[in-house]
This record gives sequence, C-alpha cells and structure tokens, in this order.
Amino acid sequence: MLKWDQLREPESGEERLWELFHENSKVSPVDVAMSNEQVLARMGEMHQTLPYDGHPRYALPAPTTQLSLSVQDAILRRRTARKLAAVPMSLEALASLLSLGYGITSDNRGNVFSRSFRAAPSGGALYPLEIYFHSVAIEGLPPGLFHYNPTRHDLRHLRDGDLSRDIAGGLLFQREIPEESSIVIFLTALFDRSTFKYGGRGYRFALLEAGHVAQNLNLAAVAMGLGVRNMGGYLDRHMDGLLGIDGCNHSTVYMLAIGKLIDDGVSGVVAPE
Ligand SMILES: Cc1cc2nc3c(=O)[nH]c(=O)nc-3n(C[C@H](O)[C@H](O)[C@H](O)COP(=O)(O)O)c2cc1C
Repeated sequence: MLKWDQLREPESGEERLWELFHENSKVSPVDVAMSNEQVLARMGEMHQTLPYDGHPRYALPAPTTQLSLSVQDAILRRRTARKLAAVPMSLEALASLLSLGYGITSDNRGNVFSRSFRAAPSGGALYPLEIYFHSVAIEGLPPGLFHYNPTRHDLRHLRDGDLSRDIAGGLLFQREIPEESSIVIFLTALFDRSTFKYGGRGYRFALLEAGHVAQNLNLAAVAMGLGVRNMGGYLDRHMDGLLGIDGCNHSTVYMLAIGKLIDDGVSGVVAPE
C-alpha cells in the first residue's frame, strides 16, 4: 500500500518544492482569466460556509463587546503568549471574537458577486476559510468541537466532550496548550473555493487570508484583555482527522490558542491587570 511519505517530494535538490510552487503560481501576461459568468456559476455551486445541518445549533448573541484598547495599543501589546491559563469566556465575548475575526461586516446586497463581505479581505471575495474551535470554557456551551458559521452567525456542535488531550497529541511543541487555554481555534481552507478561479495562486491567497483572519483574532483578543498563542507547528493529518475534514481539498492551515495571559517574566508580555 502507498504510504503518505512516498507521496512527498524531496525537500532538497535542484527542484525545491516551494520554489517550484512559487514559480508556477506567478501571474503571467498570457494567463486567461475566467469570465464573470463562469466564476458566478462555480460560486453558485459552492457553500458560502459549510452548513453542518443536523448538528446541534447554538445561536450567538450580537457581537457587541466594547473593546478597551485602540488599534495602536492592541498592535503594540500583541505578543505570541508563551504562557496562558484557561479561564471562562462569555458567549458574548466569543461572538465578538469570532465576528471580529471573520464575521460578516456588509451584506453587499446589489453587488454582482453577491457574497457578503467580512472582517478580513479575501481574494475575489471568495472566502475559502472555515473556522472551527474547541473549548470547555464557554459559558452556556457544552464542551467540545464547534464550527462557526459567519453567514448565520451561529455555531454547530460537531463533537461532544473535552478533546484537549487529543488536540495536544497533534502539537509538536507545548502539549499543555489546549488544557491551559480557554479556546483553541482552527483556521481551515477549502482550497477549491479560491483555486477554481486563480489556480496555484489561489492557494497562496487562501494562506494570505488566514494571516489576515489570525491577525484580526490576535488584535481583538488583546483588546479583550486575552493572550494568543499562534501555532503553525502541528501534525496536519492529526488535526484534520480530529476536525473530520479530508486534509486534501480541505485542510487546517493555522491554529490559535486563546486564554488569560500569564506574564512568564521573559517574553516582554504586558499582562493586563
Ligand atoms: C506562521 C506562524 C507560525 C507560528 N507557529 C508557532 C508555533 O507552532 N508555536 C509557537 O509557540 N509559536 C509559533 N509562532 C509564533 C512565533 O514564534 C512568534 O510570532 C515569534 O517568536 C515572534 O514573537 P511575537 O509573536 O510575540 O512577536 C508562529 C508564528 C507564525 C507567524
């Protein structure tokens, strides 16, 4: 049987994979763009957000948390937290965090492309990302794995129970993070939502967009008095399996743990009072 490792291209040599990819995802003057009609037809076949119908639904309150910091102060205070603690989080704070990360900010009615606009920019307004999170600390929610639907501003409960240990098993470093944070967020990408239009460059766009969403979440969390651990060092197949996504068309691209910021005395973190 073919093993995953046999599918991998070697990292070194004349044909480095990242270089091949970068070269082949460059825009060229001879590229032929899809027509608007073709783009619209494909968009019409795709979910704006995965629906997860049939899973228990939790409505989210309006995202009305008043943030206490200016953008300037949030940027200046942002640090990747070296130490976090799990503290309870209100449903309202969660709603604000998710909404400021990737929520709908304009219904964009009347625009020919008809997708609602969001808190993060998106190449072609195609929004290839999905947001999942795990928590045992949200007031009013059962423990477990959830999916956030920005279009409906609600949640679906996908898996019940404390999965902290399972998540820890997929982390390369600091396996205490899931237990020591209030919420672990998974940013995933459905690549075809972007690559159908932009080809290989659409893959770049999905990752760039994840950076936008992650920064929104970082700044919003800091302004809510919380700390964030940004994580790229995880076992992809482990996390994708945990989320129940195929890892090929749809895969985890970034993770963030959020909790109470603990000043570890060395990282220069300004812990809020
Ligand atoms: C794409 C990306 C992946 C990262 N992955 C991890 C990670 O897996 N674990 C971790 O502890 N920090 C991770 N970091 C955080 C960096 O270590 C951190 O941003 C860097 O040391 C600078 O510190 P600062 O964020 O506090 O300014 C990652 C940051 C980025 C942008």
